[in-house]
Amino acid sequence: MIPQDILHKIDEHHCRYVEQLFGFLRIPSVSTYPQHAHDIRIAAEWVLDHLDLLGFEANLIETGGPPVVLAKRCPHPAKPTILIYGHYDVQPAEPLAEWTTPPFEPGIREGFLYARGASDDKGQFFTYLKAIEAILKVAGELPVNVKVLVEGEEEIGSPQLAHVLDRYRSELRADAVAISDGSQFDSQTPAITYGLRGLAYLQLDIEGPRFDLHSGSFGGLVANPVQVLADLLARLKNPDGTVAIPGFYDDVLNLEPWEREEMASLPFNEAALREYLGVVELVGESSHTPMERKTARPTLDVNGIWGGFSGEGAKTIIPARAGAKVSMRLVPNQSSARVNELFKVFIQTMAPRGVKVHIKELQGSDPVLVSRDQRTVQAATRAIRIGFGNAPVFIREGGSIPVVTLFKTVLGVDSLLLGWGRPDDGAHSPNERFCLEDFRRGIRTAAALLYELAS
Ligand code: BES
Ligand code: MN
Ligand code: MN
Repeated sequence: MIPQDILHKIDEHHCRYVEQLFGFLRIPSVSTYPQHAHDIRIAAEWVLDHLDLLGFEANLIETGGPPVVLAKRCPHPAKPTILIYGHYDVQPAEPLAEWTTPPFEPGIREGFLYARGASDDKGQFFTYLKAIEAILKVAGELPVNVKVLVEGEEEIGSPQLAHVLDRYRSELRADAVAISDGSQFDSQTPAITYGLRGLAYLQLDIEGPRFDLHSGSFGGLVANPVQVLADLLARLKNPDGTVAIPGFYDDVLNLEPWEREEMASLPFNEAALREYLGVVELVGESSHTPMERKTARPTLDVNGIWGGFSGEGAKTIIPARAGAKVSMRLVPNQSSARVNELFKVFIQTMAPRGVKVHIKELQGSDPVLVSRDQRTVQAATRAIRIGFGNAPVFIREGGSIPVVTLFKTVLGVDSLLLGWGRPDDGAHSPNERFCLEDFRRGIRTAAALLYELAS
């Protein structure tokens, strides 16, 4: 059990922790933009320096892309080792006009800290550093061995991480992995996540004539890339919301009756969700509930589309090219490699003559389920009771964290997925925020977790 003094220390130093988090959030470490490579490095060094000050043996590992921060403080040869994971990169902040205050100038309004990365994942990861600091100040030493892995390319699918885990396999050896990069079920209900969806993300480029043509002079002679694209995209889904790609559902693990019952028993409020999203109706597979659809069923979405003339007024052309980005969320036991193949075959067989179709794979991540019957899960449950004041529910999340699958396959260890954030924190959206009370409860829980895992 965690000594009360440590929890007091955490509450006492709350304002200073928030101030320090501001510094982290001011770094615009957007991994998808090459022009932010310098900020990515500054963020990595910020984390490195912080761990250094906490007495960790900390190193930057070069990957060719964003560096990985790897650190350890292992004072007890006979005690368990906990590996803490986080990511210091963030999603782009656009559309900037929709932010009330600028994304990289953190500010507080009504108990919430607003900034890109506040919840995903800088704020959540930082709770572990402050928990460690409070423990060291009060108790002098950690109750377990701690290793820390922080990457800067999670938001682009962690393309280099498999190599890093492979190369540092022995340095990373651990008895448990703790990740806070998700959310509670709602503001009253903390959660432990036991499943994540995977991702297959592709770009489709349609190439027609060599340049934009006069649609009067040449209309009736050539295939129009924008129309070809619209037609291909339309054929990816059936009217009932299911994905039309042949074979797409072949490997899908169907929900067991106990799991459907458990999901149905969660305090899910559909009307409140519709209101938050600003939609009049939720749509999707009618055979499944919204809870099931957003966490345990696969999906397909067009993320963006371009081509032709979209300026003011009218311009009579046949565009030379068009493109779209398409992503599919995957569930156990689908694999991103197989789904990519099915997508390519389907598109290529439907593509009309007269255009060239190029398909590029952008990101991939495999879905994962982690065991709920580990002793570490019981330890996390106790820690959440201490930090949040009530017991967690067990949920699956619809997002993806590529490293979770890698930890399982490369290191052979299941992750503890503990979210301190909320579903309405606005991750990836304008006005992302993190509730200061969740920040405080997260630090308390992170500290309690290290003690619970020690016993
Ligand atoms: N923290 C999220 C993943 C997440 C979202 C977990 C919601 C639980 C609930 C993570 O930073 C993320 O956004 N991941 C990407 C992964 C992709 C780029 C491979 C995602 O899900 O889009
Ligand atoms: Mn994240
Ligand atoms: Mn994210």
